[in-house]
Amino acid sequence: MNMPEQGLKRDYSHLIQEGKVHSSMYTSDQVFDDEMEAIFHHGWVFVGHDSEIPNTGDYVLRQLGKQPVIMTRDKDGGVNVIRNRCAHRANMVCGYEGENKKVLVCPYHGWVYDLKGALIDVPHPDGYPDDFDKSQLGMVPATQIGVYRGFVFASLEGSGITLAEHLGDATALIDRAVDLSPEGELELQAGWLQHRFKANWKMLPENDCDGYHVETTHASFMHATDSQAMDLLADTDAEPPVVRDWGNGHMEIDFNVAYRSRNIPFEWFGRVPASKLPKYTAAMIKAYGEERAHELSVTGPPHAIIFPNLFLGELNVVFYYPVSANECVQLYTPMSLKGAPEVNKRAIHQTEGAVGPASFLIPEDVIIAERNQSGLSAGGQEWVDLSRGMHREYEEDGKIVSHMSDETVNRGFWRRHREEMLRDHSA
Ligand code: FES
Ligand SMILES: [Fe+2]
Repeated sequence: MNMPEQGLKRDYSHLIQEGKVHSSMYTSDQVFDDEMEAIFHHGWVFVGHDSEIPNTGDYVLRQLGKQPVIMTRDKDGGVNVIRNRCAHRANMVCGYEGENKKVLVCPYHGWVYDLKGALIDVPHPDGYPDDFDKSQLGMVPATQIGVYRGFVFASLEGSGITLAEHLGDATALIDRAVDLSPEGELELQAGWLQHRFKANWKMLPENDCDGYHVETTHASFMHATDSQAMDLLADTDAEPPVVRDWGNGHMEIDFNVAYRSRNIPFEWFGRVPASKLPKYTAAMIKAYGEERAHELSVTGPPHAIIFPNLFLGELNVVFYYPVSANECVQLYTPMSLKGAPEVNKRAIHQTEGAVGPASFLIPEDVIIAERNQSGLSAGGQEWVDLSRGMHREYEEDGKIVSHMSDETVNRGFWRRHREEMLRDHSA
């Protein structure tokens, strides 16, 4: 697995098959480089949420594959994703997140850019020849940028498809999250908790919609917290949760099927009684009407991956930075709903319990991911098996659906992964 790989062209149609994936897909430096190019530089990637930069001059720093970028709010109210590289000698223009800025100034020689990345001034301009053209020397923006209900996506090098084509029907997953706000908007302003760990980035999307590991990996969590998931799984009268492949690599564990059949408001929210959320309930009824507000209170948020790097983790928004074949960073924030302080207050506590360093859920997943990465170094088996449930999948509204413990979602993820790795980006 650590053999020199230079000059070796990998055959992704062989390494990624229906129901099994070659181990090198998680460990090879060359695979990692190809993924960064095909998926994180050319493909559509989640960058951030527009509520992180509400005012002109607000900005956040992000990493898209190997490229540092800045997401800014400009004077016209637009959201920009620009490469964090000075057009002079490539210094990173912004090194850390801080106060709102009027312009972006490179700390090396002082070139000045506006919030869209255009070069507006250089110190001592008389030192440059007459044909020095500032309009050609901006910070280079992403080729494509798109916003869906506040979620900002970009393709740095151009994907060849629109954001609408990339998201496909999975916009319904984002809608399911955002519609929980009586104002129809999210406000992500709590900051991001970051875990850096030694595992391939794909362990994250693969694990986040994996229903098979829950009762083993998270056994202590399920018992200690009297989790509603236990009831849900034990209730033989309720519709069981399922996994659903939304196409294009987007996927979910759909607990809502089960919640709907049990018809208990806020069961997804730790079974908090509606009487504890009087203002939220009233605001939802005012915004959506009695029937729809009840439906939203019963079904709750999605548990879904938007390919390749966004996880709508119920009341958390999560995304990933690949670092190398063997290392990645996972970032979390509570999914604050605009106009719903009662929910948001509780959601922050739930986030602390689920994803903080001293919490239950994520530390368990992170340890499993690291062990998984270590296990891949052992020889004897070349392939990772992803065949669970292949024989019992069925179609529902054009989507592949199966038992919640089935690897239908992993297969959907890898199908899109392979498509992107094989796509000709030179066209
Ligand atoms: S590298 Fe930015 S001003 Fe020189
Ligand atoms: Fe987990």
